[in-house]
Amino acid sequence: MSQTILVTGGAGYIGSHAVLELLSADYEVVILDNFCNSSKESLDRVKTLTGKEFTFYETDLRDRQGLATIFKNHSIDSVIHFAGLKAVGESNEKPIEYYENNVVGSLVLFDEMEKAGVRKIVFSSSATVYGEPEKNPISETAKLGHTNPYGRTKYMIEFILKDIQKAKNWDIVILRYFNPVGAHASGDIGESPNDVPNNLLPFVTQAAIGVRDHVTIFGDDYDTIDGTGVRDYIHVVDLVLGHIKSLEKLDKDKGLFIYNLGTGSGVSVKEMIDAIREVSKKDIKVVVGPRRAGDVGEVVADSTLAEKELGWTAQYNLKDMAESSWRWQEKNPKGYA
Ligand code: NAD
Ligand code: UFG
Repeated sequence: MSQTILVTGGAGYIGSHAVLELLSADYEVVILDNFCNSSKESLDRVKTLTGKEFTFYETDLRDRQGLATIFKNHSIDSVIHFAGLKAVGESNEKPIEYYENNVVGSLVLFDEMEKAGVRKIVFSSSATVYGEPEKNPISETAKLGHTNPYGRTKYMIEFILKDIQKAKNWDIVILRYFNPVGAHASGDIGESPNDVPNNLLPFVTQAAIGVRDHVTIFGDDYDTIDGTGVRDYIHVVDLVLGHIKSLEKLDKDKGLFIYNLGTGSGVSVKEMIDAIREVSKKDIKVVVGPRRAGDVGEVVADSTLAEKELGWTAQYNLKDMAESSWRWQEKNPKGYA
């Protein structure tokens, strides 16, 4: 019999891709989202793309009654917990909202899971928990740090999960994502920022399609191949397949596991802009500006542990990421709006 997975934040960028892959792999899916950074449209499109049904609850993570109802109505095997606020800059302006939404929301979820006897979870963490890395590539045993309230919420939730695992014997996979980009091959679901994008890739594709006049490179004086910031970009489909491997891991092994999900290869800002120029055949105007506060030069994952223990490696390359991002942008110039 197929397993039932509760996906929190399932209408969001990564969540919608995860729901699509879970349905394709014949999992039963129950989704919770409050649409604070997404819309129903992503889920409608997932339904059309897969031709499969799922159950959706428009519920906030902090709504105890709402969560209790979901656990009462469904026999949930595992939870994949994506729901959260994720903008680094905004978290500096709105720390209370970030701690309340991400930390309190996660605590309510964990409490209701424990009450319902659901003790398996895959949690979306981030490379941000490494703060300023001492060396690259970064392995899971590297020193942790945190430079902003968003990063601290991920750091705190990781420790909360470790304590719950010890006390209550939960089975947990914490996934530290590097830089998720790209879109489903159809170009029908993708990243749809509500506002001016904070992240590089949506900004560059918006500049290519003419929504933005130019891209500002945040500093070209880093100690990297061309002076611009280097990141480990990972295709969102590879990333979500790492979650399915994690569910499989929890079927076999008990305890708490932490994995980086990245490709192990660094790509500079200039290289990423060139990749989008190539696939879009558009001239993208670039202006070099100062460094962005809080940025570091290079962040690249050592993902060998995920390869060894999950049997997972990233399959998509930079061209695939650029092509799928551009396809999504071209088909949806205004996102889901
Ligand atoms: P997203 O904003 O597209 O998706 C998050 C979803 O959660 C949205 O649909 C939003 O409406 C929902 N949500 C937020 N707070 C909620 C609440 N209190 N109750 C119910 N629903 C709520 O973001 P994403 O890029 O898909 O990220 C998913 C997860 O991955 C987040 O936890 C994020 O921190 C983490 N992550 C993302 C990145 C990235 O670059 N995209 C990198 C590292 C980690
Ligand atoms: N950049 C620009 N111009 C832009 C936007 C970004 O030059 O308009 C540069 C940045 O300086 C950086 C690179 O592009 O060198 C990537 O920046 P992003 O904002 O896309 O991504 P970050 O690596 O800064 O942060 C992302 C997520 C965080 C997460 C972190 C680590 O936004 O939530 O990856 O996983 F914590």
